[in-house]
Amino acid sequence: MKTENTVWHAQHIDKAQRAQLKQQQPCLLWYTGLSGSGKSTVANAVDALLFERGCHSYLLDGDNVRHGLNGDLAFSDEDRVENIRRISEVSKLFVDAGLIVSTAFISPFAADRAMAKEMLAEGEFIEVFIDTPIDVCEQRDPKGLYKKARAGEIKDFTGIDSSYDIPESPTIHVKTAEQTVAQCAEQVVQFLVKHQYIK
Ligand code: ADX
Repeated sequence: MKTENTVWHAQHIDKAQRAQLKQQQPCLLWYTGLSGSGKSTVANAVDALLFERGCHSYLLDGDNVRHGLNGDLAFSDEDRVENIRRISEVSKLFVDAGLIVSTAFISPFAADRAMAKEMLAEGEFIEVFIDTPIDVCEQRDPKGLYKKARAGEIKDFTGIDSSYDIPESPTIHVKTAEQTVAQCAEQVVQFLVKHQYIK
């Protein structure tokens, strides 16, 4: 914080009351995985299933957020850290609003994912590892970015010349090369039902 002259102002309506109104346990589904692994695809499919169930949810997607809030950031390690810090803060506010929040960012560094987890209360942070082998991501190459990275036209590309820390104990481990998108989405929703985040 750059100034000492701001004081936290307590709000009348709190997270528990908002959650009660929405009949759900607010949480953050933190999707992490390589570019082209299927984070956005699975997160969108889960979001659609949640909507059908009458849940109140919101999805923050890397490519979209980088057009607005984080439009000033590129892909150096420093910028990626700041990208995730801002997303974590925004997610925390959305969880406070009682929502089931999903974030779909590569979030390559374990330390940053741990930081996001620490910002939230116990049980609110759900790490979803979208585990897709890099050769599969590269074969899919939906945006043609691997091709460009291999040709040296993009620098600091995750998995090629920028690192990705594999999650050691993700809450949900989704293997997209072995299941359909619908099955992956169902896996996430079933976790939320089993652990009583949603009905
Ligand atoms: S993160 O590393 O900071 O979490 P984020 O999820 O926001 O990344 O953005 C990743 C998306 O940006 C990729 O899916 C891809 O479409 C695009 N992109 C552009 N340049 C790069 C790069 N150098 N490394 C990774 N992704 C990139």
